[in-house]
Amino acid sequence: MIDYHRLGDVPAKHHITFRDGDRLLMEQCVTRRGFDGAYSILYFQIPPTDETAVESMELPGFCPVSRIEKQPLHRRHIQTAKLQHNGDFLTGRKTVLMNEDVHIGIVKTAAGPGPDFFSNSDGDECWFAFDGGGRLETLYGTLHYKKHDYLIIPKATPYRLHPESDRATFLVFEGRGFIDIPKQFRNDRGQLTLDAPYSHRDFRRPTELIAFDAATHGQAPYRHIIKCHDQLTVHLSKHWPWELKGWDGYSYPIAFNMHDYQPRTGLVHLPPTIHITFAGNDFIICSFVPRKVDYYDKDGAQSIPCPYGHASVDCDEILYYVEGNFTSRKGIEPQSISLHPMGIAHGPHPGTYEKSVGTDRTAELAVMCDTFKPLWLTTVADTIEQKDYHTAWVQTESAVHK
Ligand SMILES: [Fe+2]
Repeated sequence: MIDYHRLGDVPAKHHITFRDGDRLLMEQCVTRRGFDGAYSILYFQIPPTDETAVESMELPGFCPVSRIEKQPLHRRHIQTAKLQHNGDFLTGRKTVLMNEDVHIGIVKTAAGPGPDFFSNSDGDECWFAFDGGGRLETLYGTLHYKKHDYLIIPKATPYRLHPESDRATFLVFEGRGFIDIPKQFRNDRGQLTLDAPYSHRDFRRPTELIAFDAATHGQAPYRHIIKCHDQLTVHLSKHWPWELKGWDGYSYPIAFNMHDYQPRTGLVHLPPTIHITFAGNDFIICSFVPRKVDYYDKDGAQSIPCPYGHASVDCDEILYYVEGNFTSRKGIEPQSISLHPMGIAHGPHPGTYEKSVGTDRTAELAVMCDTFKPLWLTTVADTIEQKDYHTAWVQTESAVHK
């Protein structure tokens, strides 16, 4: 949903005859916000409506998912490095945090995908490739991705994910509704503004349409697993339903690499919102990338590059640590998720604030998500939580009284 894109052949106008040989192709308009939002128009070789059977399916930890019953208010550390590699891009999904606007999950694969396609009709998804590349096979075509890419997959898009490595790790945001470019980054023509933190050139789009391949798509009945209303349903079709003659429009998957994000530096420390990358319904996704830090230096006083303590009283904040030196936190490792909830103050660990004065760069790489509604830990997160994390700010007597 970055700009207009077309792949394959489409007719001269909407809603007119379009044939492949003698066959009249089925036109399908995929529309958002009723018929008023972004849309794409697809031309199917075989209509994707000929399911012969419908079944229910469950993947515990993802669908259904359950939150813990009581969650006393304190800072939390979910050690997702402790999750085992298991399953594929779908069967290996585990949700660790959730509210009514967003579910946040981890996928750690141990195998390439099976023959099934999956689509999420509960909302757009944003995948972050933690440790490697591969290709995303979608109804809109193949999108090649690389390490530290974000992949935005629109609601109801059938897809399979093929990591290059059998042991790949992903952070996944599942929005209820939209995950999109923040409105403030577009001008009145929909173009990204010159002061946006990225340009149209930074986004990658599907490059080739997909075609049936018995070796990887299997044999009939073909299974399409659909998530809707937090239930999984499997549609079985006699014909492989994902072959298109072409499509065009504004709704399709995109890839954006975190290292193409253009960070900002201030005279003094700027709020975390300068890192905003994508926006959802009552949540934002931000990118912390290596950058120069704040440079005030006058009359013996210097800027403090480490984030100031803060109580953003309307937001829960999570950070997913990717790599680099996490200057503000101790005891955190790659794949850690910290949750600093609304209702209490938070800030750098003792000592890190002072240590940052005089530095000129930060090398940390992390994904942040702020939500306006409280996040709940799931029962999966409960098993990998560092239970005493919130006491890590306790200072020694000598440090307090010096
Ligand atoms: Fe914060």
